[in-house]
Amino acid sequence: MINYKEEIAKILADADIGLSFDEIKEIVEVPSDSKMGDYAFPCFKLAKVLRKAPPMIAKDIAEKITGKDLFEKVESVNAYVNMYISKQNFIEHVVPEIVNAGDSFGRSNIGEGRPLIVEYSSPNICKPFHIGHIRSTVIGNALYKIYDAIGYDVIRINHLGDYGTQFGKMIVAYRLWGNKEDVEREPIKTLLSYYTKFHVEVETHPELDDEARKVFVKLEAGEKEEVELWQWFREMSLKEFNRVYDMLDIKFDSYNGESFYSDKMPRIVNELKEKGLLQESQGAQVVDLSEYGMPPALVTKSDGSSLYLTRDIAAAVYRKETYNFVKNIYVVASQQNLHFQQWFKVVELLGYEWAKDCVHVPFGMVSLEDGTMSTRHGRVVFLEDVLNKAVDQTREIVKEKGVNTENLEETAKAVGIGAVIFQELSNNRIKDYVFSWDRVLNFEGETGPYVQYTHARACSVLRNAGEELVAKACEFKDIDFSYLTGDAAYTLVKLMYELPDVIVDAAEKYEPSVVTRHLIDIAQGFNRFYHEEHILVDNEAEKLAKVALVKAAKNVIANGLALLGMKAPEKM
Ligand code: ARG
Repeated sequence: MINYKEEIAKILADADIGLSFDEIKEIVEVPSDSKMGDYAFPCFKLAKVLRKAPPMIAKDIAEKITGKDLFEKVESVNAYVNMYISKQNFIEHVVPEIVNAGDSFGRSNIGEGRPLIVEYSSPNICKPFHIGHIRSTVIGNALYKIYDAIGYDVIRINHLGDYGTQFGKMIVAYRLWGNKEDVEREPIKTLLSYYTKFHVEVETHPELDDEARKVFVKLEAGEKEEVELWQWFREMSLKEFNRVYDMLDIKFDSYNGESFYSDKMPRIVNELKEKGLLQESQGAQVVDLSEYGMPPALVTKSDGSSLYLTRDIAAAVYRKETYNFVKNIYVVASQQNLHFQQWFKVVELLGYEWAKDCVHVPFGMVSLEDGTMSTRHGRVVFLEDVLNKAVDQTREIVKEKGVNTENLEETAKAVGIGAVIFQELSNNRIKDYVFSWDRVLNFEGETGPYVQYTHARACSVLRNAGEELVAKACEFKDIDFSYLTGDAAYTLVKLMYELPDVIVDAAEKYEPSVVTRHLIDIAQGFNRFYHEEHILVDNEAEKLAKVALVKAAKNVIANGLALLGMKAPEKM
């Protein structure tokens, strides 16, 4: 893709102005006010080197750049050289490149195949996979796609919550009241009902708690019967989670959750001891973090059993040794901010320099219009039900619109589920937000359906143009790109041209909404062009240019949607 900063640096370095290519590239800027040009070169630094007044230098430099195809106008204003790019030259470069790049437009190799971990979703087994989990799941998946697009070798980890004393209770409850067929039919709801019953019964039968503790000790010791039951709970829960992952088209490379680290923790506890970091506190082992303004990190409990935090440390050490990550990203709710700050600090105190490569990517809460969601009061909304409802409602909307009945089901899925994903990724992730059906499924607002609909509209234009014409346009012969220099077309090309940088920006900020918002801008840009201009006109050279632009836009929108984990139906 044409890179103006580099092109400018090349011209000026060749002209021997006294600075190197890299130095010049650093200085070239994009003026905040586009009236001052598309690019500008401030001459202050050069003035020091050349011992000349900046305005004089600006004049010289302007002369050196004038007359090149790249720019329509170059002028010096005081200490600045302002450059206005040639729209036609720009479009001639960019549109063919986007079309030819196809699926790979936007991708780069900044990551150079280096290993990077994204941990996301990580629900607790035997517990509902509810609407609160959608955030980690969908944000994490988008971050995986974004980092993959810029060339990292991404490892996707689902750190399942599959360990802890609650499984002692679960096993006791199942042995007392469990029914195999019920669990197999509806695993999580059934297991959850046993668990709830346990908590009711324990009020009057405190001995149940002792029993649960004993059972958990057996489980930790690897006793066959307990382990088999726990494994079965895990399998049944995963089966249910996987139904949701399939709907969302989300995959993982590893489901190594908390249990995987139970035998890897003694090593961590020993290391902490050896390095003199452990302290006794009311029978528990802690790392004092008061020096860093944090409460102590709990490493083992008074009964000797280990904790969530210790498992996280063991997991990080294992991941470093197994994958040698350059970055280890955790997409986990902001409620756990302190937890991550604490154990990142402990890893640092252990002397692991890679502690700095561990990143917590927090996000705010999602609530429902009819009140916050709470597991405790039984008002859980299962994610699967939300996705199904989105598909059902979309099916109705699409039917009403009376289009595309051939693959109604597929379209309803792509749009319904896409709508939920898009809404998730629309806002700055750190903000709390309220899930609203009206907003999610609105085809006009800044929504997933709107962007997908724009893509389908582009596809429809291309269908109307006919295969032959589209093929001819994509050869870029006999095309007159001057027909695309109007404001609507040019703005659209410029937005599309920015996509690769936008992807990098989103990766650096761990913020998929950067891509989402840019995609909305592109969709709006396309619709403006579509409404303002006649595309399939009689003049062949003009028609070819416009069809090429539509093809490019279709391409870019599809690529953008894919980055968010969404499909791009051709008809809607
Ligand atoms: N299972 C936890 C929960 O549902 C989230 C796990 C987050 N990841 C981690 N490495 N601690 O709250």
